[in-house]
Amino acid sequence: MYADLKGQVAVITGGSSGIGAAIVERLAQEHMKVVINYHTDKTQAQALAQKIQQAQGQALVVQGDVSQEPDVDNLLVQTLRRFGQLDLWVNNAGVEDYAPTHQMTLKQWQRVIDINLNGLFLGSMVAVNQYLKQGNPGRIINVSSVHEKIPWPGFAHYAVSKGGGQMFTKTIALEYAKQQIRVNAIAPGAIDTPINKTKFTDPQQLAETLELIPMQRVGHPQEVAAAAAWLASQESSYMTGATIFIDGGMTLYPQFAEGKG
Ligand code: NAI
Repeated sequence: MYADLKGQVAVITGGSSGIGAAIVERLAQEHMKVVINYHTDKTQAQALAQKIQQAQGQALVVQGDVSQEPDVDNLLVQTLRRFGQLDLWVNNAGVEDYAPTHQMTLKQWQRVIDINLNGLFLGSMVAVNQYLKQGNPGRIINVSSVHEKIPWPGFAHYAVSKGGGQMFTKTIALEYAKQQIRVNAIAPGAIDTPINKTKFTDPQQLAETLELIPMQRVGHPQEVAAAAAWLASQESSYMTGATIFIDGGMTLYPQFAEGKG
């Protein structure tokens, strides 16, 4: 538990499912007031808010598309109206969409970049503006991916969005370090969430994924949320512009595991 988080306000985009929902739950357990942004799944977002409220926590649900500036502006407006301040913004919403590059349409490319990268910019932009107004050492956490580092054929738009997100994280970390605004990223490997539902329920695809993971298992959303809580807290007070990989070793070149090469 991180006592300093108590009473602080966190916005989590795409917070109704998977890693986002685990971050929402963990931050609520840390006694933060949480704002759950969802895009389409109102029922799931409301159920999560209810669960938090039943445990004496405070949660607000706000619909919005992270790639649309008015929606992101509204997310901040609703947050301030309800809780009066902002301390943490988690850019978690993201999509992936398989398409070999020679067959990818501009529309497919644009959608992934719009949500994963433009969404990162819009969310960070409103959060930084609010921190500058408040004069508080706010934090931003960007949920990236091992594919900010590992190329991913069939997912060029996704890899570019995460690679671009890494440079964005570092750049704004540098840009606002003087104001004590900390910006960090978390890069998960293969985590058991709805984004991977088809992959992990097919035994062959799951086996192929496990071959890429030295720890020989997929990760749980809670294992990612634990890093988010730490990055939100004062325990990480001197860290900015960094990416924490939570991937069971996926970025350690697993093909070299037995001393090959
Ligand atoms: P998920 O599909 O459960 O979560 C993505 C969330 O983003 C969903 O709640 C979805 O409704 C929301 N979303 C999609 N488009 C949106 C939009 N335009 N506006 C607002 N929200 C929108 O999957 P997961 O795994 O929890 O993904 C969360 C983040 O983690 C994503 O950024 C993803 O790229 C990243 N990630 C996930 C990995 C995994 O293995 N599960 C691995 C590496 C990164």
